[in-house]
Amino acid sequence: MEDKVILEAKNLKKYYRRGSEIVKALNGVDFKIKEGEIVSIVGPSGSGKTTLMNLIGCLDRATSGSLKIGSINITSLDEVDLVKIRRGNIGFVFQRFYLIPTLTVRENLELPLIFAKKKIIAKEILDILKEVRLEDKAEIPVKYLSGGDKQRTGIARALVNNPKILIADEPTGRLEARVGMQILELFLRLSKKGLAVFIATHDLELAQATQRIIHLQDGRIITKEKSDLYY
Ligand SMILES: Nc1ncnc2c1ncn2[C@@H]1O[C@H](COP(=O)(O)OP(=O)(O)O)[C@@H](O)[C@H]1O
Ligand SMILES: [Mg+2]
Repeated sequence: MEDKVILEAKNLKKYYRRGSEIVKALNGVDFKIKEGEIVSIVGPSGSGKTTLMNLIGCLDRATSGSLKIGSINITSLDEVDLVKIRRGNIGFVFQRFYLIPTLTVRENLELPLIFAKKKIIAKEILDILKEVRLEDKAEIPVKYLSGGDKQRTGIARALVNNPKILIADEPTGRLEARVGMQILELFLRLSKKGLAVFIATHDLELAQATQRIIHLQDGRIITKEKSDLYY
């Protein structure tokens, strides 16, 4: 099977203006990610991780350079098209889950479909719940779940729109280490099915377990051996 590039950044830059100062949050970043790859993004605070995740997630636009999702260069798209690309390609997983606690697991999964005015297909919801090992907890209000199961629900919700790319910002930040590794195992399983997964993390053990690590420093990718991590 030929490896398909799902994401390609070329000389990607994002500058912010802060008063009279220009902040070079991303200062020329290049990478290629294939379908089914799982990548962690690590780096000190202020190195550009969130900026990069926001660009990949079509939440913000680059200052220059190009970023392609599949064959589409998203850097030249207007807001309306960017939203379409985001809905069709990207799933988001958050550290703080952002679930509705009084709604059941199943209802939390149905919400994005209701917002997108899409039909809810019970079989598809069930398949996703099986994928994340939550099929027995579908009718439980989220507030009664453990942290790990809340994050499984968050991941399941991100899968509802059938994304090609999953973006997770510190997805294990609120979980104990053992539970965090179980969540990572779930990401690994999803990537084996063809999903490209990006994880921004401070957790080096977790990062080392992913296929690739992108190290950011001062808005640039630096090359480092896996054994040579220091932050
Ligand atoms: N909206 C903004 N306006 C001005 N500067 C910003 C903005 N967002 C981020 N920055 C700056 O860009 C740099 C990278 O930030 P960020 O991407 O949040 O890094 P990280 O997620 O690695 O901590 C930092 O210097 C930060 O202060
Ligand atoms: Mg950040």
